Amino acid sequence: MLETVSSMRNRMDMYNDNTLKIGLFGANCSAGRSATLVPERWSASWSDCLKLAKMADAAGIDFLLPIGRWKGYGGETDFHGTTLETVTWAAGLLAATERVTVFGTVHAPLFHPLIAAKEFVTADHIGQGRFGLNIVCGWNEGEFEMFGVQQRDHERRYEYAQEWIDIVKAAWTESGDFDVYGKYFDLKKARAFPKPYGTSRPLIMNAGSSDVGKAFAMRNCDAFFTATDASRLSVDNTAKRVAEVKAEGAKLGREIEVFTVGQVVCRKTKAEADEYYQHAIIDNADWGAVEEMLALKNITRETVPMDEFLAKRKYYAGHGIGGYPFVGTPDSIAAELGSLSRAGVRGIAVSFVNYLEEFPLFRDEVLPRLQDMGIRAKN
Ligand SMILES: Cc1cc2nc3c(=O)[nH]c(=O)nc-3n(C[C@H](O)[C@H](O)[C@H](O)COP(=O)(O)O)c2cc1C
Repeated sequence: MLETVSSMRNRMDMYNDNTLKIGLFGANCSAGRSATLVPERWSASWSDCLKLAKMADAAGIDFLLPIGRWKGYGGETDFHGTTLETVTWAAGLLAATERVTVFGTVHAPLFHPLIAAKEFVTADHIGQGRFGLNIVCGWNEGEFEMFGVQQRDHERRYEYAQEWIDIVKAAWTESGDFDVYGKYFDLKKARAFPKPYGTSRPLIMNAGSSDVGKAFAMRNCDAFFTATDASRLSVDNTAKRVAEVKAEGAKLGREIEVFTVGQVVCRKTKAEADEYYQHAIIDNADWGAVEEMLALKNITRETVPMDEFLAKRKYYAGHGIGGYPFVGTPDSIAAELGSLSRAGVRGIAVSFVNYLEEFPLFRDEVLPRLQDMGIRAKN
């Protein structure tokens, strides 16, 4: 197990010396980050998640990042129709692992901050300082509707989130009772014990992409996840983005680590990798689900010309959902990850079509190459 000391530095480093942190993204949701019909698509069952987490932990993977999702996107597979709630998922996995940091992804508008703060502390104690918080405000109206909660406009969404995170932090740090008289919360003699594990608090991440969302992230988070249209298309674009984010953070006197996301299809030969990517992600895409996701962004057959719609649909299936596709051999994928690291990217959360079947090749062939490059510590 970890040592009992949990400083903020230890947490930022995820308790290891890896320069490039690698995480697994989306394993709590059915089909993970691939809206595909292929029968081997990810189940997201608890037993598969547990096996994956133990395998990842033993391999020295740095973090597991779940998706906060409450409702499927429809299509033939009802993409993301089956999901495990992320904080309870994290608590279970933290109890079963020794080194990996596990995030909970929490929709601020759906959880009372004092209850949420205590759930995070509980998970953090279970994991001896390995719980991380991904705070999200939501972007999918239908999900909020089913809770009877009205989604706020962007300004107010993040204004609310600010009060929410301030209360969570107060619950983590205040040594006695505290009052909150805010615009959204009115709390009297609030009290929360115990505090997070060790002498620090859980890592906080956010992935806002609007101006107010980014500003919120700059003010509050340790790890900023970026996945822009540009970063989904090339490693170089991600590198440029990192410099911008770091500069924005520095203006506020904050040291922000930049992370990104990607989908890995790694095979022994390039031909095999290309073929599987085409088969699973394009030829067998769950187009109904992809179209449903695009409709949430007001991109439909009715709102844009047909050729543009089909191009956007293909782009979204191929790059949008999983992020930049790392498709190739262990050599080519390690080289691309090496470029990201040299560009200052602190970490990447990756997904696979079937995490359990595909992770072993990544572990056995890609991770050692990253160690040889000096960007991952020897396990
Ligand atoms: C890596 C990553 C993870 C995200 N995870 C979730 C999630 O689990 N649930 C969710 O509703 N939104 C999630 N989002 C969406 C963001 O929180 C955010 O709402 C989105 O980027 C739009 O930015 P905005 O809120 O500033 O408009 C994620 C985004 C990224 C890039």
